[in-house]
Amino acid sequence: MTAFDIALWGIVPYIALTVFVVGHIWRWRVDQFGWTTHTTQLLENRWLRLGSPLFHFGLLAVIAGHVLGLLVPASWTHALGVSEAVYHALAVWGGALAGLAMMAGLALLLARRLINGRVRRTTSSMDKAMFTVLVVLVVLGMVQTVGVNLLGGGYDYRETVAVWFRGIFYLQPDASLMVGAPLAYQLHALVAWIFIGMWPFTRLVHAWSVPIAYLWRPYLVYRKRSGTPAGARR
Ligand code: HEM
Repeated sequence: MTAFDIALWGIVPYIALTVFVVGHIWRWRVDQFGWTTHTTQLLENRWLRLGSPLFHFGLLAVIAGHVLGLLVPASWTHALGVSEAVYHALAVWGGALAGLAMMAGLALLLARRLINGRVRRTTSSMDKAMFTVLVVLVVLGMVQTVGVNLLGGGYDYRETVAVWFRGIFYLQPDASLMVGAPLAYQLHALVAWIFIGMWPFTRLVHAWSVPIAYLWRPYLVYRKRSGTPAGARR
């Protein structure tokens, strides 16, 4: 293992995580009013109504798959009586379907941005960079799940990539586990760290402001005018 391997798999994740945390604090302090999706719903709604739920529900399923595949050790699923064959079928077919929905949604959202002139004009350079990295990340994810594990010879990432990934949070990432991983798995993980590092500087910050409060608060909030209005005082 070279110093480069150690930097790639032992240092890059911490740089990305630090930028992620510090970047969010900075963004919150300097740009609270820009902390939004920068929605273009008023400019175009038909493609958005289909593309957005496809992308976001696909993404939620992909996140669930990552939690199961990366954070839950294989020994736990074995202890629960889930055989390797059952796990593999669930991960491959579930992952492929979730990834497909996410990709289809992303394709619709990007086509909408390219075709609709008004939406295109609201697309910043940061958006373009973020969408490019996201497309590469999702395509690499599908190369792993569909190309390697569904149609190819298969690769047991739970014994390598997942163990390395958990090691990052125990402050003991074992870089040697990633050195032997297939190229698609290495590239997917590296591009993921770039994506995570970009996060706080993009519209992705809206993910932390999911309007769950809408479920129990009225859609319109009325407020009493208290005291004398400033104009009348003058
Ligand atoms: C360092 C962080 C990440 C690691 C280590 C990682 C690793 C993996 C692994 C091991 C797979 C399954 C491959 C297989 O079935 O053979 C996968 C699939 C995938 N990943 Fe990631 N991933 C990371 C972050 C992300 C992020 C941030 C996204 C997108 C926002 C993403 C999108 C996908 C997609 C779309 C798939 C294919 C569908 C699926 O199996 O869920 N990944 N990733």
